[in-house]
Parts: sequence; structure tokens; C-alpha cells
Amino acid sequence: MHSKKHIINIFVIFIYAIIGLSNAEEGEESEELQRKVEELSLVPDDKVFIHSVNDSRMVTCIGNDVKWRSANGSYVDTYNQMERIHVEDFSSPFSDNQQLRLIFKEIYEMDHGDWSCVGIYEEKSFTLFVYVPVEFVPVQQSITVNELQNVKLSCEALGRPAPEISWMFNGIRIADTDESTSESRHIQLSDGLYIKNVTRKDAGDYTCKAFQLSSKLSYFKDQTIQLDVKFKPEILNTQRTLSNGLYNSSSGITTKYTFLNASVILTCEVNGDPQPKILWYHRGKLVHKSNIEHKNNLSTLKIHIHSNKSFDDYKCVAKNDLGDAVSLFTVKPGIRPEPPTKLKLIGTGDQVIDLDIGAKQPNLTADIFAITKYRFEVMSKDDYDYEGDWKNYNITDVEARSNVTYLITQLAPNTTYLVRVASINLVGLSERTEMQEFTTLAEAPRKTQNEPDSAVQNFSGFGLVMLGVLLNLMY
Ligand SMILES: *[C@@H]1O[C@H](CO)[C@@H](O)[C@H](O)[C@H]1NC(C)=O
Ligand SMILES: *[C@@H]1O[C@H](CO)[C@@H](O)[C@H](O)[C@H]1NC(C)=O
Ligand SMILES: *[C@@H]1O[C@H](CO)[C@@H](O)[C@H](O)[C@H]1NC(C)=O
Ligand SMILES: *[C@@H]1O[C@H](CO)[C@@H](O)[C@H](O)[C@H]1NC(C)=O
Ligand SMILES: *[C@@H]1O[C@H](CO)[C@@H](O)[C@H](O)[C@H]1NC(C)=O
Ligand SMILES: *[C@@H]1O[C@H](CO)[C@@H](O)[C@H](O)[C@H]1NC(C)=O
Ligand SMILES: *[C@@H]1O[C@H](CO)[C@@H](O)[C@H](O)[C@H]1NC(C)=O
Ligand SMILES: *[C@@H]1O[C@H](CO)[C@@H](O)[C@H](O)[C@H]1NC(C)=O
Ligand SMILES: *[C@@H]1O[C@H](CO)[C@@H](O)[C@H](O)[C@H]1NC(C)=O
Ligand SMILES: *[C@@H]1O[C@H](CO)[C@@H](O)[C@H](O)[C@H]1NC(C)=O
Ligand SMILES: *[C@@H]1O[C@H](CO)[C@@H](O)[C@H](O)[C@H]1NC(C)=O
Ligand SMILES: *[C@@H]1O[C@H](CO)[C@@H](O)[C@H](O)[C@H]1NC(C)=O
Repeated sequence: MHSKKHIINIFVIFIYAIIGLSNAEEGEESEELQRKVEELSLVPDDKVFIHSVNDSRMVTCIGNDVKWRSANGSYVDTYNQMERIHVEDFSSPFSDNQQLRLIFKEIYEMDHGDWSCVGIYEEKSFTLFVYVPVEFVPVQQSITVNELQNVKLSCEALGRPAPEISWMFNGIRIADTDESTSESRHIQLSDGLYIKNVTRKDAGDYTCKAFQLSSKLSYFKDQTIQLDVKFKPEILNTQRTLSNGLYNSSSGITTKYTFLNASVILTCEVNGDPQPKILWYHRGKLVHKSNIEHKNNLSTLKIHIHSNKSFDDYKCVAKNDLGDAVSLFTVKPGIRPEPPTKLKLIGTGDQVIDLDIGAKQPNLTADIFAITKYRFEVMSKDDYDYEGDWKNYNITDVEARSNVTYLITQLAPNTTYLVRVASINLVGLSERTEMQEFTTLAEAPRKTQNEPDSAVQNFSGFGLVMLGVLLNLMY
């Protein structure tokens, strides 16, 4: 049958060749006729078929003496219906036209491309677009680097259409790098993200998002890599010690002042990954454990000053695999502050007590041991009688200022309170004053014989604003 058709074709062409010659003047008509015979058509005639792997598809080519050419250029010449891709001939023996069906029983990724039905004079093609959902090449889910190293986080996303990649760090998009931002430490590569000079702040979750976008489909998938950044220990507390010491940033030494028979606490707060081990040294020897307390990243050494020998240098060393950090301390004898010279009642209100303690503005240039703060301790007499001691009392530290009185606020009316005060300087707390009793006024009606100072009246409203002790400028 096949060979017979071939002969007919040649015959037809021969006939038209003769007609073409004889009807040279009537070209239009003959071309139309020729097209009728030669025209190839595909059913369905879509230009593109989008398919997923394992889909099936059939395309019929109608024409004379046609063949199917595959995406890789070879002809599909198998009529074996067992084959995944084969051709079935549905030509009618009574028709001039062949009907060749190209059958994909299961579409594979490699079938992607242009498939053509090829006739003698023309061919018609369609694009078989084999959609491949994005897949990531598996990677390590967690990566550990040392600080200041460079790291590449892999993200290889395969799929068709080729996925677009963007990166997120802890949920925030990392801006694409371009020429103008070449300073950026993040460089997006086709198969990953390169981070130069990693710092501990770079530790976190990096999410690689792969988007597949086209007019007909959109899809995305993501993959997260956890970046762990190891770094050597770092001492954190140098500034914090200022409340009870002096930090010299050029020598790196913190000086702590105390006095004989007192105790001093040295604090070493460190940061590091892996968690650093903290050791204390005195005169080159490890300090006995009993005086040391570790709590998370904080280590404290308590030194009791038995004798002048205890005034000495101490050292805290924080160590991990990546290195160590040292914090130096020197404990020197200081001058303990004197307690306030007076504790004089200026006035009372129904919620406030106003006290003069002879406070003075410190001049630390003239005297590093000047009093910088006062500590007020307040407790109701009822509570004191119940507890039998100073327990659960309110403590408030306030700045030392010249020419002020101190207003204790938020007190209950018609209540007796016990108050005692201590001074604070670089060395620490002074002895406390003797405790004194003060009674607030009854709420209403105001008792005229206990008429408070006008200042207190004016300031009593502050109790609503602040809790504890307020400064009250003397007039
Ligand atoms: C396609 O079929 C094969 C075999 O039936 C199966 O293993 C594979 O997962 C299928 N692929 C898709 C993308 O469905
Ligand atoms: C070309 O594609 C056909 C069908 O997809 C396949 O059977 C054949 O092996 C391929 N040939 C080459 C050289 O890849
Ligand atoms: C790496 O980062 C550190 C701290 O951010 C910086 O001091 C150093 O100069 C950087 N090194 C390089 C090679 O960029
Ligand atoms: C701080 O240390 C430097 C260097 O050891 C020293 O010269 C300077 O006097 C010190 N400053 C104070 C205030 O102790
Ligand atoms: C220190 O304590 C000892 C005994 O506890 C005592 O004898 C000594 O006087 C105290 N020294 C000072 C300066 O308080
Ligand atoms: C301790 O240090 C680690 C890093 O080493 C840090 O993540 C953690 O927040 C620190 N903890 C405290 C209580 O400072
Ligand atoms: C400690 O030193 C001070 C001053 O340097 C001195 O007055 C005192 O006697 C010394 N005390 C002892 C027990 O050595
Ligand atoms: C603090 O004391 C220094 C030295 O005695 C002096 O020069 C300075 O004027 C004083 N400052 C104030 C505010 O009194
Ligand atoms: C401290 O003062 C506040 C406000 O006046 C009060 O609510 C609280 O109970 C007091 N605490 C103690 C321990 O007395
Ligand atoms: C405190 O008051 C005295 C006397 O009224 C005055 O001489 C002095 O300048 C005042 N000091 C301040 C810091 O206001
Ligand atoms: C104040 O309290 C005392 C005893 O606590 C009580 O006898 C007195 O009546 C109270 N005064 C007023 C005005 O509430
Ligand atoms: C207190 O307030 C009253 C009225 O608001 C005012 O006349 C008086 O001068 C004030 N007293 C002081 C010491 O500020």
C-alpha cells in the first residue's frame, strides 16, 4: 500500500508539472490546487503542548507521504504499539491523504522539543514542552563555619522552565547582587549563595526559593540551610563594671575598689560559640572553685579581703576551640563612703514624706570616692512589727544632688513608715543611718496642726507619676 501511494504521488506531481507548463498564465489557480494536494495539517494544531512527565499525547498528521521527526532529529519509524513513542497509520485506503498518529504513551523529560511532521514539500511542527517541577539537588541542611571565613550555601534547582532563584535570610529577602553593589558580602551564584567574611550575625536560616514562572504555569519550592557561625570568646562586661569599678580602655584593666574585711565581686560575661569555658587566675594560679559561680555566660569571682595581700591582680580567661579572651582586674583599697549626716523631716503629706539628707553633688574629678548615690530603704512599721526585721522592704537608689530634698512617694495615708538611708560610691555601700519613723497624714479631712510644707503639697501629685523616691528641689 505504501509503495502504491508513492507511485500515485509521483504521478500527480507529474500531471501538475504538465498543467503548470501549459497554464503558465493562470498561476494562481494552479498554486491553489497544488496546496490542496500538498497541504499538511496537524490535529490538534496547537503550536505548543505543555505536559508533565508521564502524561500521554496524540497528534495526527494528515498529508501525503509524511513522516514524524522527533525532537532530537531522528525519525519515528516504529509502528510497534508496545513502544512508548510510536506511529499508528490511520490512512484510509480510499484517500490520497495519509493519517499518521504520533502517540506518546508516556511523556519523558527527554521528549521536550520541537516535533515535526515532514512531507515532501513542507513540514509542520509543534513544541512539546515537558514541564519538570523544580527539584533541589540535596544539600546538607546545616553548615558550620568559623567567623571571618567564606562560605558557599549550595542551592541547585533543576526543572523546566528553568527556575529563578532568590534567597531569604531569616525570612527577609537578600537583595540581588549586581555590579553596583559589588561591596556586598552576598554573591548569588547559579548554584548557590556565597557569603564572604562571615560574621556571627550571619548565623541563621538561609532559604533558597526557586520559582518557575511562565504564562501557563507557576510553581515554587524552597529549601532551607541553617548556618552556624563559630566564633572565639569575647568579653562583654567591661563597661558594665563601671558601677563598682573603673575600666581603663587603653590598658584593658578594670579597677575595683573595696576595703579590708569586705568582699568584692569580679564579673566576667563572655560570648562565644562553642560556649567558652571560663577560668579565673590569681598570681598565675587557678582560683579555687568555691569562690566562683558560673551562670550561663556569666562567671563571678567573690574575693574576701582578709588582708592587704588580697589587694591584687586577677584574671578571667574565656576559652573555646577558636581562641580565648582575657579580662584583667585589679582590686585596690578604696574609701568606704560615710552614711548621710542627717535624716531630717521636711514635711509629710497623705502619700509622701519629704526628707533632707544633706546631699551633695559629687565632683569625681576631685574625688573618685565621692558619694554618687543614696539608697533609701522604706518599710511600713506594721510590716516591720510583723516581720520582726528588715524584710521585703522597698529599695530605691537616687542620684546625689546639691540643695535638694528627697520625696518618698506612693505611701499610704495615716501610716507609719521606717526609713533608713545609705550612701554609695565607687567602693560600694556605706553603713546605713539609724532607722527613723515617719507617719503620713490622714487622707481627709486634712489635719491643720500637721499642715505640711507647701513644697510637699505641690509635689504630692508626683506620686502618681513615679514610684519610690523623687528629688525635690529645696527653695
Ligand atoms: C512517572 O511514572 C513512573 C512509573 O510509573 C513513576 O515512578 C514516576 O514517579 C512518575 N513520575 C511522575 C512525575 O509522576
Ligand atoms: C531520539 O528520540 C527518540 C524518541 O524520543 C529516541 O527513541 C531515540 O533514542 C533518540 N535518539 C538519540 C540519538 O538520542
Ligand atoms: C571581615 O569582617 C571583619 C569584621 O566585620 C572586618 O574587620 C574585616 O576587615 C573583614 N575582612 C575582610 C577580608 O573583608
Ligand atoms: C590607663 O592605662 C594606661 C596604660 O596602662 C595608663 O597610662 C593610664 O594612666 C591609665 N589611666 C588611668 C585613668 O588609670
Ligand atoms: C577585720 O576583721 C577582723 C576579724 O574579723 C578584725 O579583727 C579587724 O579589726 C577587722 N578589720 C577592719 C579594718 O575592720
Ligand atoms: C551566651 O552566649 C551565646 C553565644 O555563645 C548567646 O547566644 C547567648 O545569648 C548568651 N547568653 C546570655 C544569657 O548572654
Ligand atoms: C594595709 O595597708 C594599709 C595602707 O597601705 C596599712 O595602713 C595597714 O596597716 C595594712 N594592714 C595590714 C593588716 O597589713
Ligand atoms: C571638680 O574638682 C576639680 C578639681 O578639684 C575642679 O577643678 C573643678 O572645678 C570641680 N568641678 C566642679 C563642678 O566643682
Ligand atoms: C514597694 O512600693 C510599691 C509602691 O509603693 C508597693 O506596691 C510595693 O508593695 C512595695 N514593696 C515592698 C516590698 O514593700
Ligand atoms: C546650694 O545652696 C547654697 C546656699 O543656698 C548655694 O550657695 C549653692 O550655690 C547651692 N548649690 C547648688 C549646686 O545649687
Ligand atoms: C489613723 O490611724 C489610727 C490608728 O492606726 C486611727 O486610730 C485613726 O483614727 C486614723 N485616723 C484617721 C483620720 O483615719
Ligand atoms: C505651691 O503651689 C501654690 C499654688 O499652686 C503656689 O502658690 C505656691 O507658690 C507653690 N509653692 C512652692 C514652694 O512652689
